[in-house]
Amino acid sequence: MDYAKRLERVSVLGAAGKMGSGIVLLTALEMADLSLDPAHRGLEFVLNAVDVSSKALGGLMKYLHAQVLRAAEKKAVTLRKVYEKREDLVENEEIIRQYVDDVLAIVRPTTRLESATDSRLVFEAVNEDPALKVKLFGAINTQGPGDTWFLTNTSSIPIHELNEKAGLGGRLMGVHFYNPPAVQKLVELIPADTTLPELAEFCREFAKKLRKTVVPSHDVAGFIGNGHFMRDALHGLAEAERLAKEYGFTDAVYMVNKVTQDFLIRPMGIFQLIDYVGLDVCRFILGVMNDRLPGRHLHSPRLEALIAKGILGGQFADGSQKDGFLKYEKGRPAGVYDPDKGAYAPIAELAARCDPRLGAPPKAWKPWKAVIGDAQRSEYLDGYFRELRGAATTGAKLARAYGRRSKEIGLGLVTDKVAAREDDVNTVLLTGFYHAYGPINAYFD
Ligand code: 3HC
Repeated sequence: MDYAKRLERVSVLGAAGKMGSGIVLLTALEMADLSLDPAHRGLEFVLNAVDVSSKALGGLMKYLHAQVLRAAEKKAVTLRKVYEKREDLVENEEIIRQYVDDVLAIVRPTTRLESATDSRLVFEAVNEDPALKVKLFGAINTQGPGDTWFLTNTSSIPIHELNEKAGLGGRLMGVHFYNPPAVQKLVELIPADTTLPELAEFCREFAKKLRKTVVPSHDVAGFIGNGHFMRDALHGLAEAERLAKEYGFTDAVYMVNKVTQDFLIRPMGIFQLIDYVGLDVCRFILGVMNDRLPGRHLHSPRLEALIAKGILGGQFADGSQKDGFLKYEKGRPAGVYDPDKGAYAPIAELAARCDPRLGAPPKAWKPWKAVIGDAQRSEYLDGYFRELRGAATTGAKLARAYGRRSKEIGLGLVTDKVAAREDDVNTVLLTGFYHAYGPINAYFD
């Protein structure tokens, strides 16, 4: 079966979730492009967007409409060529509207899992729960024709384990997108030992057509991305606990978050990133890794305690950020959670107390967004980190220690043979987490 035929009938499970909605968007765009190609006349492209919540599916359709419209506006010139034979489409707006209709017509939102049984490709993006994934794969596999290919967006569960437990006979591949899938360039590809070579090849082609950067990861719990992120997050949590003894918990969280965002020039501080991913999602991933990597102690009592209080982070259906370690107003951090008081300490008060303690970042400092857009980024970073290495402020010392640990984690992933090369670790952080530089660098020794 060729590439287009395989993509003629697709289902995405967990379609209305954070990752699922991005995967539906990208897959629907690719399917629409195939359907509009005269070479595929006669094929009927259908994408079942399967989710347990019909309300969330309503939100998915709104998200798709807005995003497809943006995509169409960006490629209006190409679309004019695609629709050149349609004499009824003259104005740009008509062409754009037609494309949006064509993409959305492919997507069939449904709460019925059975819709997926006649799919040739099933992309799973449900919760990070091994038993749930195995149950869904097993149900579709036994009711379907037996030659369905399965992709999983699992961010931590070994692919060989899911393949064996669901009895898929090598028809499963890990295809791990990063949040938000429409923005992050990375797709981490994880074949199990038994994954069919033609399925692995299809996944490479699919990722390439989506214009993603592909990094292969070995089939080890957490893979490269979460192998780094989870350890980085645990380090942030440990640093905060250490600083809390001197300054109190809210000050410590503020300080570590500020150092990891500003001093290290990252898009988000580590606590904002944990909130963005979701405390409960992080706990799920840590649980999977901890069970499968004995002796690594990958867990956090602080995370457990906050989750028990219902502090979860993650996003609302409209994409806005829920409170977690930090409180958010208009998407920006506005407070830090104080577990003793069960309330958020205002960020302005924390800044007034903690910023003088940290000291100013190096003079060359620029915000992350300016750095990723800098044509001379590498020269800029050399100069910035030279200054950071020479600085004696508490902020600079914390940043250097953090950068060193981040590098050590990256190198450990190569030593443990999760990543084949140092470059792969760096590419994952650059393209999956939008970092301005890779963790394995000459800035921290
Ligand atoms: N869908 C589509 N587009 C989105 C989007 C979404 N859900 N969220 C943001 N965008 C777009 C915005 O529309 C905007 O587009 P534009 O530049 O064309 O206007 C662009 O992304 C930038 O967004 P904003 O201007 O609103 O905000 P920022 O510049 O701060 O960028 C961010 C937001 C892209 C999320 C950036 O902060 C970032 O990359 N943060 C790090 C996120 C990260 O580390 N992700 C990986 C998490 S780990 C993971 O996913 C693995 C999993 O297994 C746990």
